[in-house]
Amino acid sequence: MERVVVDAPAKVNLRLEVLAREDSGYHGLETIFCAIGLCDTLALEPAEPGLELAVEGGVDTGPADQNLVVRAARRFHAELGVAPALRISLTKRIPSAAGLGGGSSDAAATLRALNAMHDAAVDEARLRQWGAELGSDVAFFLCGSTLALGWGRGERLLALPPLPARPVLVAHPGAPVPTAGAFREIAAARGGEYRPAARTLALEEITSWSGIARVAHNDFQPVAVRAIPRVATGIELLRRHGAAPAMLAGSGGSIFGVFGEGSDLRPAAAALEGAGFATWATGTLQALPPVRPA
Ligand code: C5P
Repeated sequence: MERVVVDAPAKVNLRLEVLAREDSGYHGLETIFCAIGLCDTLALEPAEPGLELAVEGGVDTGPADQNLVVRAARRFHAELGVAPALRISLTKRIPSAAGLGGGSSDAAATLRALNAMHDAAVDEARLRQWGAELGSDVAFFLCGSTLALGWGRGERLLALPPLPARPVLVAHPGAPVPTAGAFREIAAARGGEYRPAARTLALEEITSWSGIARVAHNDFQPVAVRAIPRVATGIELLRRHGAAPAMLAGSGGSIFGVFGEGSDLRPAAAALEGAGFATWATGTLQALPPVRPA
């Protein structure tokens, strides 16, 4: 393939439990990932030797050489033993450092797109391995489904059949919650050894929206509310407009609400914008966006 285009969706965690800190310094997680329709878009095309990244969309993605897209592309070419000659255009819509997995999704989309350009030279398992080494949420976006249970750092996954499509309103308070600090705060609040309360998830609780609403939980939510108090107001507004669940996305500071089929999201969006949030009306995804020739 000459030029390919792929959408990289955001994710939310319908449940996110932070377990004990491991010897690696990272905390074990137990989570339910769900991909949503708020997407970045990547276009990849052959170019002069080297790796060129152009970012559009006014979302700060940090220094280019640390961008996960560049790191994913470097890894792919190094593993194949080929020199890159590639231009990547990244249109950012997913806010950064917002708990929505945007950078991870961009990295996963880069690996998928490059593999398509190289006639599927790499099998899915290897691609997932590279993804897991690039960042915590990358493996989810390579698991083949839009819904999955995740453990470890999110690299051990059980892909689930997607739940019925639902409208989702995402709202961002305009301030980031740095991930490392949020983990530290959770650890400090618990002090010492942490043993999670035993909770067995029943199959019904992860295969229906009514079940999900019962097990929806995010350990980062109190941390985000302390850092950005209007996060609590935003979640309450989502609930009042009928969202279930309504909660923090990932490590924050974005929040989201899942609404009933056919709901009009505009009243909730207007209320949140009135409270100082930026909003995106979207929905849960039934399938990962395909890599397409363009
Ligand atoms: O995955 P990412 O590099 O964004 O994580 C940033 C920091 O958050 C890590 O360096 C680590 O301190 C903390 N972290 C953690 N446990 C995880 C993921 C991240 O403690 N599962």
